[in-house]
Amino acid sequence: MAYNIAVIVGSLRRDSFNKALSHAIVKLTSADFAFEFLDIGSLPLYSQDYDADFPEAARHFKQRIEAADALLFVTPEYNRSIPGVLKNALDWGSRPWGSNSWGGKPGAVLGTSPGATGTALSQQHLRNVLAYLDVATLGQHEMFIKHADGVIDADGNVANEHTLKFLQHFVHRFESWVKRHVHK
Ligand code: FNR
Repeated sequence: MAYNIAVIVGSLRRDSFNKALSHAIVKLTSADFAFEFLDIGSLPLYSQDYDADFPEAARHFKQRIEAADALLFVTPEYNRSIPGVLKNALDWGSRPWGSNSWGGKPGAVLGTSPGATGTALSQQHLRNVLAYLDVATLGQHEMFIKHADGVIDADGNVANEHTLKFLQHFVHRFESWVKRHVHK
């Protein structure tokens, strides 16, 4: 039986480098892992007024999180933090009070940006939020990837041997992390 991984990409940009990175990870993972990309762009801006009656997009989003065995967050850094669209999705998944859909799942975070710090600060903020949401986040390897043109194409093909090895190490650690927490 496959391990179901929900992938949450923190960028809505059509040609997102982080989307490409997430496809590279999917390509490198073993056949007993199945991936579903969750749509965070259709979620309205969260307000507590919705708690009494969640809109369909949010109900569906929570249901897909709950159906997943584990979570993979692939995010850019916006102004030294996570993009608002990702925080909005995290908030939707955590509510209404007492119904935190993220809770208890293993997860991992990674990201890429053209900046020298390769999303390090964004990931640190994300880890803080995930700790509160009771997600068991893989500590090592940290994956701060400085984007360079042509290294990962839109379909997730990796041209550079060094980057490929780095991603393979991460995938190996992620698979072990999921298997340690989820028994099938
Ligand atoms: C950025 N970018 C950026 N990069 C970075 O390394 N650190 C940062 O703090 C920021 N801040 C930031 C704010 C905003 C509003 C934007 C739009 C961009 C640049 C960012 O890394 C770059 O646009 C990436 O291409 C975004 O990721 P995707 O969309 O390609 O996945």
